[in-house]
Amino acid sequence: MNERVIFQSAVPLDNPYRCAGSLKAWQDEVAANALGNSRLMLALSVGFTGPLLQPLSVEGGGYHYRGGSSIGKTTALVSAGSIWGGGGINGYVDTWRATSNGLEGVAALHCDTLLCLDEIGQIDAREAGQVAYMLSNGQGKTRAGRGGEARKAAEWRVVFLSSGEISLAQKMAEDSRNRRVMAGQEVRIVDIAADAGAGMGIFEDLHGFESPDALARHFKAAVSRNYGHPSIAFLKKLVDGRVANIDRAAELMKAFQEQNHIAGADGQVSRVLARFALAAAAGELALEFGVLPWKSGDAFAAAKTCFEAWIDGRGGTEAAEDRDAVATVRRFLEAHGSSRFELILGDQGVADQTIDTRVVNRAGFVRHRNDQREYVFLPEAWKEVCAGMDPGRVARVLVQRSLMEVGSDGKPQTKQRLPGINKPARCYVVSANILAED
Ligand SMILES: Nc1ncnc2c1ncn2[C@@H]1O[C@H](COP(=O)(O)OP(=O)(O)OP(=O)(O)O)[C@@H](O)[C@H]1O
Ligand SMILES: [Mg+2]
Repeated sequence: MNERVIFQSAVPLDNPYRCAGSLKAWQDEVAANALGNSRLMLALSVGFTGPLLQPLSVEGGGYHYRGGSSIGKTTALVSAGSIWGGGGINGYVDTWRATSNGLEGVAALHCDTLLCLDEIGQIDAREAGQVAYMLSNGQGKTRAGRGGEARKAAEWRVVFLSSGEISLAQKMAEDSRNRRVMAGQEVRIVDIAADAGAGMGIFEDLHGFESPDALARHFKAAVSRNYGHPSIAFLKKLVDGRVANIDRAAELMKAFQEQNHIAGADGQVSRVLARFALAAAAGELALEFGVLPWKSGDAFAAAKTCFEAWIDGRGGTEAAEDRDAVATVRRFLEAHGSSRFELILGDQGVADQTIDTRVVNRAGFVRHRNDQREYVFLPEAWKEVCAGMDPGRVARVLVQRSLMEVGSDGKPQTKQRLPGINKPARCYVVSANILAED
């Protein structure tokens, strides 16, 4: 089929999909030196995932390398970018320094290939969260046209690699409105510690280079000479026997998921596992095609190491909301535990009078019972404590951890007598032990 397609755009577009050097030189100088370096191997594997998104019907999303300065994060991004293109000053890599509108255009330009976004620190904290959803969900904002009609929003399907000294969650917390990262954002951009823990930043195997610094400089030099060929070689093989190749990719993905399945883990963990499985499968497929000069199983092993690093960084395999529940309540008590609670009598019986204190902007009551300090919240105040999370879910998590009193009906709300209220009121009672919880 020889169909000629001419794309006419309103403005001249920068074409990052350039080629230079050779596939052989790229394999010898870039891919071979990535071997044994899990973060780089994952980045290269991710580089081949774009064309598999649509045939495998999997969702797009991002992989974010987080870590201190000069440990090789950008090096990983430019290496993966060299699969698709390069040239110019920054090679194939784009930056987070953009508005969400600008990033829509950039994402659409990288549909089904790879998008590399360097330095998450540079995006406006207010936009970071929205952008995380936007890039992964594949749709821009719907805008009104000149006549007020709805214009078609830009659409794309993209996998992106990102880097930065902080995580998306930390970026969003910079916003003065103190936005929390939502669990949905966390599964869309998976956060991987860039430092591989071998004392050499992102590297684990130096391949005879005298220092990690020298290896990093080698990578940057090598990808400035050789780029663009690996994606072409991969795509040629992929379309040659397309159906069988896609089946093979699906099979590899499934195998990775089965090998790394964690029994009892939350659904969010399985979803992220699928994201790592996609990268692992793309890497194995690229090595089966002879594009990556590695041996069978290498891409799986690298993806597994990074998946474990993700679980470590996340703090376990429970749902993110459950993990955050305790932290949110604890943060509230750390900040306001001594200023916004009215001291009431505890062991002495019914508290019908307050001890002479003045509390401004009261959030609840505090009392001592059975040698324990307890915080008592009325339902409306409890919503404030939960800061936008589901108050019922937060309460259930605290009950599970024996940090909240349960009523005789097993529910987290208990009836309490409080000063100034004639009838017993439904309250949440939180033990001060929460401040010592790990
Ligand atoms: N693992 C490493 N150990 C020591 N030096 C390194 C390492 N990786 C990179 N460098 C040095 O740091 C320079 C910058 O590398 P790179 O751009 O990859 O770092 P980065 O992690 O992105 O840093 P930044 O956060 O400042 O952007 C390299 O040219 C190299 O000299
Ligand atoms: Mg950098």
